[in-house]
Amino acid sequence: MRIQNDDLLLKNINPEEAMPAAILELEKLAKDKMTPGAFGYVQSGAGGEETLEKNVSAFSKYSIIPRFLNDVSSIDLSVTLFGRRYPTPLFIAPVGMQKIAHEEGDLATARAAAKFGIPFIQSTVSSYSIEEVKEATGDSSKWFQLYWTSQDDEIAYSMVKRAEEAGYEAIVLTVDTVMLGWREEDVRNQYSPLKQGFGKANYDTDPVFLASLPSNNFEDVIQAVSDNVYHPALNWEKVAELKKRTTLPLLLKGILHPEDAKLAIEHGIDGLIVSNHGGRQLDGVIASIDALPGIVESVDGKIPVLFDSGIRRGSDAIKAIALGADAVCIGRPFVYGLAAGGQKGVEHVLGNLCDEIRVSLSLAGAVRLKDVRGLIVKE
Ligand code: FNR
Ligand code: LAC
Repeated sequence: MRIQNDDLLLKNINPEEAMPAAILELEKLAKDKMTPGAFGYVQSGAGGEETLEKNVSAFSKYSIIPRFLNDVSSIDLSVTLFGRRYPTPLFIAPVGMQKIAHEEGDLATARAAAKFGIPFIQSTVSSYSIEEVKEATGDSSKWFQLYWTSQDDEIAYSMVKRAEEAGYEAIVLTVDTVMLGWREEDVRNQYSPLKQGFGKANYDTDPVFLASLPSNNFEDVIQAVSDNVYHPALNWEKVAELKKRTTLPLLLKGILHPEDAKLAIEHGIDGLIVSNHGGRQLDGVIASIDALPGIVESVDGKIPVLFDSGIRRGSDAIKAIALGADAVCIGRPFVYGLAAGGQKGVEHVLGNLCDEIRVSLSLAGAVRLKDVRGLIVKE
């Protein structure tokens, strides 16, 4: 792909293009558009926000050592995972309750992602159902993120089956959220989007879930959704059973310990997402980028390793790939775009990130993503 460098840079000073290129500035725009409770929910982290802060600052400990004179006039950003080719290494991380950022929520995000061929990972606690997102986006690439269920495992299997039937391409089981993290900003704001019903779309359309309720009224649905989000009994046996129940590739999201990566491989898992949930779960855990090299070493190329938590620009993505990630996901950056400008806002964020990834790869002297592997040092 040919780089029109002037075009890339000028796009960002076009007066019609009102949105800023930098995520920090976009965050300010989002703050103006959202209620304090909703913005706090998205922006904040768990506990004292040690991990939230570290996720971003840890990137500056890693420096790229570029190679030159490699002819980067035509570069290839594509990545092949589970037999499918994706045009860039960028993925949309699963983010629940997107309606708190914009009325069109997941539909706007998934449509924006589809324009770039970027896979949309849909949360279990999304504001629109699997079928609604499918209806809005047709055959674009979509994965489904599963939160296990506490009351009845059959509810989890039912959601997975719905994702399979809707043509989703992979299942991502999030393992770091057997209960929500300790989030003081939400306590301060007395804010729970789950309790307000922003995350129930996949539940109140699920026949197995509905059959488990005393009634279908709002209170009973919300109570059961909250009960299901709390599922501390999740364990490796259930993971193994889920693996048997789905025909799709199964990834675990939230793995930080190299031994858990080994166990995942022993249990036949197809891929990992190294993540600390954007610092929203256990505060004080290792910055996600610091956990990545150990997992990559432990996995030793047997299954793909994706990465998230703390990516704020294209060069961060390139650092993660240099450390061995196959692809990267973003969370808050696209949510800020969604709040600031709906689908167009998400497109703005994705466009800038893709362009910066392209420029960063070229300036690192790499023609393909794998060429940047190892061109990095920790200082
Ligand atoms: C999340 N994340 C998340 N993860 C998940 O597996 N299921 C979910 O429903 C949600 N919901 C969610 C809501 C909001 C508002 C945020 C900000 C995040 C975590 C998400 O997938 C991802 O791991 C982090 O957002 C990545 O960190 P950054 O990019 O936000 O720094
Ligand atoms: C969050 C949950 C929903 O991080 O995963 O808010």
